[in-house]
Amino acid sequence: MNNEQSQKYVGKVYLVGAGPGDPGLMTLKGKGILECADVVVYDALVSPQILLMINPQAEKIDAGKRMGRHSLLQEETTQLLIEKAKTQAVVVRLKGGDPFVFGRGGEEMEDLVKAGVSVEVVPGITSGIAAPAYAGIPVTHRGYSSSVTFVTGHEGAGKYRPAVNWQAIAHGSETIVVYMGIHNLSHIVGELSSAGLSQQTPVALIRWGTTPQQEELIGTLETIVAQVEATGFSAPAIAAIGNVVNLHGILAKGEK
Ligand SMILES: C[S@@+](CC[C@H](N)C(=O)[O-])C[C@H]1O[C@@H](n2cnc3c(N)ncnc32)[C@H](O)[C@@H]1O
Repeated sequence: MNNEQSQKYVGKVYLVGAGPGDPGLMTLKGKGILECADVVVYDALVSPQILLMINPQAEKIDAGKRMGRHSLLQEETTQLLIEKAKTQAVVVRLKGGDPFVFGRGGEEMEDLVKAGVSVEVVPGITSGIAAPAYAGIPVTHRGYSSSVTFVTGHEGAGKYRPAVNWQAIAHGSETIVVYMGIHNLSHIVGELSSAGLSQQTPVALIRWGTTPQQEELIGTLETIVAQVEATGFSAPAIAAIGNVVNLHGILAKGEK
């Protein structure tokens, strides 16, 4: 950063992960920053109890994404953070889960760094681990899975480069965790099946994981698409695929 750039800004931007929903899963560091924030720009999936942690004097701005306006809003949001850093000391960008896991945090941080704004990331607990965990599904297990892949199910329209290589993923690890996969589920199931995964491979869908509204749908590659159609199961949900899903029947009984 050159001198001219640093003089433009009095503040610092914190990219903070709010975790998957349960307010108890917010990090202490993230909570401390929310308590002394001057401005908080937050996303749609951040739970209301976490918004209550924000300094009551802070300006709160809902940057909730709207379908069809994704890229424009992204630019607007980054520009807003840059503007706020000119006059406010503690500017928080609050994102669901972890900011760097399918959260565009990397892109936002890159733009802020390029603009000469001081910026720090505060990781959060990602839904791809926490939602299965609250459903009694450990993403690795010494008896069932020595590896896990986190993948986007929303790869369409050239949004993700490189595009998802489902063939490689089907054979690359024992557990596959898919974010944003519900709308595209039949395509994903088709790709994994044609890559040779058994039709009996267990699949769990967990929606609103770690919140009081958490719901699960358990099936197999063969059955899950029909189950979604029959029940109307909808986003936001994580899909966990692999033999670790069988532990749901044992571990979900743990909490009494
Ligand atoms: C844009 S991605 C953001 C992921 C986030 N950065 C993270 O680390 O969890 C949004 C997707 O995350 C998943 N997701 C986020 N919160 C969730 C929750 N509480 N339960 C289930 N899935 C969730 C869903 O797949 C949703 O479509």
